[in-house]
Amino acid sequence: MSKSVELAARIKSSAGDEAPEYGLILGSGLGHLSGTIEDGVAIPYDDLPGFPHAGVSGHVPKLVVGDLEGTRVAVFGGRSHYYESGKADAMRLPLEVLAALGTEKLILTNAAGAVNENLAPGGLMLLNDHIAFAGTNPLIGEATDARFVPMTDAHDVEMRAALKAAAKEEGVELPEGVYGWFSGPSFETPAEIRAARVLGMDAVGMSTVPEIILGRFLGLRCAAISVITNMGAGMSEESISHDHTKQMAPLGAAKLENVLRRFLRT
Ligand code: HPA
Repeated sequence: MSKSVELAARIKSSAGDEAPEYGLILGSGLGHLSGTIEDGVAIPYDDLPGFPHAGVSGHVPKLVVGDLEGTRVAVFGGRSHYYESGKADAMRLPLEVLAALGTEKLILTNAAGAVNENLAPGGLMLLNDHIAFAGTNPLIGEATDARFVPMTDAHDVEMRAALKAAAKEEGVELPEGVYGWFSGPSFETPAEIRAARVLGMDAVGMSTVPEIILGRFLGLRCAAISVITNMGAGMSEESISHDHTKQMAPLGAAKLENVLRRFLRT
């Protein structure tokens, strides 16, 4: 039995057989949602061999399976980033487990810096495309032809429309834009932010893109929302730091939570 099938069986034995409709991966400072799941079964990553240790402060390293607004979800309260290990496929096993649970749709959230001047800290951005600027790919080393994953429809049109509709009903602005994946962990320079703008990025961050690539590889439909925590380097006087990200994330997180709850309810 493959490792993912074995772990999925273990998760089912405590959380039940029903496949979660959505997997949710929560970004820095955005973990609150997982604590609000009704009758959720929480499994620490440490009890799931091969899961990342999610060693970034602001993340809650556990998987919670249960109901959110009447929809069954599997929430990953933490992710591993490329910059932690140099491995872009650090989230491969958790996503394989999600697929093995029978889940078909994945929603990702992250904290990001704005490149587009029309975005502002505390606001949200729905990813309508991305640029993998980190110069690597989580499928490097995958030996099968399945590695040649088309990315044309990486950001699912139907899920995006439903998220936009949910945001509208909640009175939350949800502009769309292109997310650029930088490796981190250092933040960008002002010149890199200017370059990002020229290249067509609206926001930049250090996550999400490898998970979308892996998600598409596994046949999951994907959508992602950024919480804008700061303007990109050189765009404003405010300082950029991880502490600042964690401080600012809750502002947008409340809006994000309302959008996701509405989305799951309808
Ligand atoms: N750059 C990269 N990642 C980020 C940023 C940023 O400005 N803010 C939050 N995550």
